[in-house]
Amino acid sequence: MKKAFIFDLDGVIVDTAKYHFLAWQNLANSLGISFSSAQNEQLKGVSRVRSLEKILEWGNKTISEEEFTTLMTKKNEEYLVYISKMDTSEILPDVPRVLDSLISKEQAIALGSASKNARVILDKVQLTDKFQAIVDGTNVSKAKPDPEVFLIGAKELGISPENCVVFEDSVAGIQAANRANMISIGIGDPKVLHEADYIFSDFTEIKEEFINNLVSAKKV
Ligand code: BG6
Ligand code: MG
Repeated sequence: MKKAFIFDLDGVIVDTAKYHFLAWQNLANSLGISFSSAQNEQLKGVSRVRSLEKILEWGNKTISEEEFTTLMTKKNEEYLVYISKMDTSEILPDVPRVLDSLISKEQAIALGSASKNARVILDKVQLTDKFQAIVDGTNVSKAKPDPEVFLIGAKELGISPENCVVFEDSVAGIQAANRANMISIGIGDPKVLHEADYIFSDFTEIKEEFINNLVSAKKV
């Protein structure tokens, strides 16, 4: 049986939240807005535009459209400096094992990320070749929890949504997978990701037997 396995990127394959945090924090501070790691948690899976909107809301600040665009560019330029230093050591534990296991079982694999920097990050950690389809922030018009990103991935792989499995670390991403009628697997805290069909703290907990069961499972 052929299934499609769709992976989110940030927080699932690599821990880039720490770099988003540094870049957003510098930007917020330059505007006189304080920005905590708890607030950064709330930006996981959230688009770049919406992230800046939220930071401005937290700081009670209104800016012109022009300044908004300038700040978005500034944040991304700083983020890209951190990304440029990434290498394979930043792949989260056991992600390659799970990817290789799925490939050995001839399963289809896609990326489903909100990031416009997804391709550059996959290249830096040398995982691009593992993906048959890459859907990212440059291909979608509706942000998670809208299921668009995952539905495009399924379509590109030619697999129906009920035969897709999504790995996600954000609440919005789990909701998007559920709305797409796909099997959702949360990677992270069960208290946060309780809407997922299955939850693991990381990929080291995902055993071969579970992968085999997923390959033959049906969403109920
Ligand atoms: C998501 C991240 O994957 O991508 C968010 O969890 C980020 O924190 C969003 O804002 C957009 O990413 P980028 O790289 O296009 O700014
Ligand atoms: Mg994520």
